[in-house]
Amino acid sequence: MKNKIYNNDLLIKGYVDEEIDPKIDIKHEINLLRKQKNAVILAHYYQESEIQDIADYIGDSLYLSQRAAKTKADIIVFCGVHFMAETAKILSPGKKVLLPDLNAGCSLADSCKAEDFSEFLRKYPNHKVVSYINTSAEIKALTDIICTSSNAVQIIESIPENEKIVFAPDKNLGNYIQSLTGREMVIWNGACHVHEQFSLEKILELKTQFPEAKIIAHPECNKPILIIADFIGSTSALLKFTQKDNADTFIVVTESGIIHQMKKANPQKKYIPAPPSDSSCNCSDCIYMKLNTVKKLYNALLFEMPEIVVKEELLLKARSSITRMLEISEKLGL
Ligand code: 13P
Ligand code: SF4
Repeated sequence: MKNKIYNNDLLIKGYVDEEIDPKIDIKHEINLLRKQKNAVILAHYYQESEIQDIADYIGDSLYLSQRAAKTKADIIVFCGVHFMAETAKILSPGKKVLLPDLNAGCSLADSCKAEDFSEFLRKYPNHKVVSYINTSAEIKALTDIICTSSNAVQIIESIPENEKIVFAPDKNLGNYIQSLTGREMVIWNGACHVHEQFSLEKILELKTQFPEAKIIAHPECNKPILIIADFIGSTSALLKFTQKDNADTFIVVTESGIIHQMKKANPQKKYIPAPPSDSSCNCSDCIYMKLNTVKKLYNALLFEMPEIVVKEELLLKARSSITRMLEISEKLGL
């Protein structure tokens, strides 16, 4: 096996597609490998349940970037999507950062290409540029401060009142933050394919069926959904809400992976994944997040690939916007 390490031929499909001996206990092997290699496994709440159960740390984008910045591990296996692993690499350039499947992109990050964004910014000189963490390193390099859905309000509020703001790329999060802070912002017209497709009508039907249920939504959802939501927050805020709130039933309007942690924390409560407009699709699963599997995670650890590589010049340009966010968040205890 060892001679295959760093052999790029293994990455034709964007992940290591090596057969695994069916006799081995894959979870046990992952445990041995992570100890042997001093690796840490970070997983986002949208990962499949088995990956969440194996991970050393599970969380939202802010928490995972904080862990990536602080870790003493030599290898970070990032079970999430590309922009998350890339952010980890930018914050910890000395570590080897692995993403089990390199095809795990993000439709929101893809909706904002660097060429288009730099042309857009030319129309708005003298604006502070705030971008959501769901962006490529190239966009981060064009940005003054990064934010996540956990700290977007505080990041906007950290900018002096007299400064003009450009916000990218999520129009729903941007409009929501604008309504909370009262700050005028020029907002990029991007969206996430999962959060855009939840059906208002079907959610309202569910509410008639379960009148006591609380509707909880991620701010990447469309405005009509945010208007009817009882609570709006990042994945970790939604999870905390279900733990603290007295309701027994929740209609969960975000990617369904988060329900795993909700059930673990309060198994006696009921969590209904919000239905998408097109009932024939499995659209409340993020197709990108779900590309990672336990098998790909095992192979990534074993072969130490696919590895995230960011050119030094880009890495340095992108880093200050992320560290600015981490500094503000730390000061505010977020
Ligand atoms: P959180 O930071 O709330 O976990 O959101 C990440 C994400 O990709 C939402 O679609
Ligand atoms: Fe990107 Fe949407 Fe998937 Fe989150 S859920 S990673 S925003 S495509």
